[in-house]
Amino acid sequence: MANDHPGCNDPAKGKEEELNLDLIKSGLSSSLFSVNIVYLTALGSTNDLAKDLALRGAPEGTVVVTEEQTAGKGRRGRSWLAPSKTNLLFSILLRPALSPNRTFSLTMALALAALEAIEGETGLSCMIKWPNDLYVGRRKLGGILTEVSGKDNQVDWVVLGLGLNVNWCPEDEKGVSGFSATSIFAETQETFSRNELLVQILKQFESHHERLFSGGGDELYRKWNEHSLVLGKEVVIEAEQKRTTGKAIRIDENGALILEDGTGIMHVITHGDVSLRLFSPSS
Ligand code: BTN
Repeated sequence: MANDHPGCNDPAKGKEEELNLDLIKSGLSSSLFSVNIVYLTALGSTNDLAKDLALRGAPEGTVVVTEEQTAGKGRRGRSWLAPSKTNLLFSILLRPALSPNRTFSLTMALALAALEAIEGETGLSCMIKWPNDLYVGRRKLGGILTEVSGKDNQVDWVVLGLGLNVNWCPEDEKGVSGFSATSIFAETQETFSRNELLVQILKQFESHHERLFSGGGDELYRKWNEHSLVLGKEVVIEAEQKRTTGKAIRIDENGALILEDGTGIMHVITHGDVSLRLFSPSS
């Protein structure tokens, strides 16, 4: 692949700061997410640790953050690779009073929070590619892995894990975060504080989370549609044995994609284990 990220050899790349728990805590002050932050320099997967903590009774709002994952997980059984001390890798534990089919609204709220924090901190605009990715143009900037446990139609815990490419050069390491990846650095040629970005994402997410549970979800719902990469486009959805092609109409208030097929029938695609790609006639 041609090097179309001219800023990656910039000497500014040397100035990255390490994650700093005190800075993060003081930035969050009285936030729900400042109460129990677990920071380890390296671990397997922040999602896995957050899930273990959930099973051991950790409170809502627990955040697990690391500089490096040795077994980072992406969706659909993929791995998530990221170099040490370069990107953001964290998971949030929630215990929402929601039925399982509504939990995807939390993924959308986190995607929106990240998008807004990135824009506010760096000036970079990105879009949400349903169901769980952040994109700049046709390149992936980050992804969310949502894991849920519950019974009797009631959620016990939700773990939302975000991997965001921040100060990384995509061409440095082939295979990191998949092909056609990008980073904030690659797009802006500037190095940004991951501490500050993390704080702003968590603050923004907290305010969206509050809105979701206090009847203010309509504005979020409008915003995640406004920032959606796929609406109005022909897309192909693949889930296990099933393939559906159609036009992406909107994302509903639960985070499901509403798709209109060639015969005018509307399909409600819940997040599940699906992949979405833009339709091209040869696909
Ligand atoms: C995807 O795009 O497939 C989702 C990627 C999610 C990666 C993040 S990194 C932090 C958290 N811990 C993990 O093991 N995965 C998520």
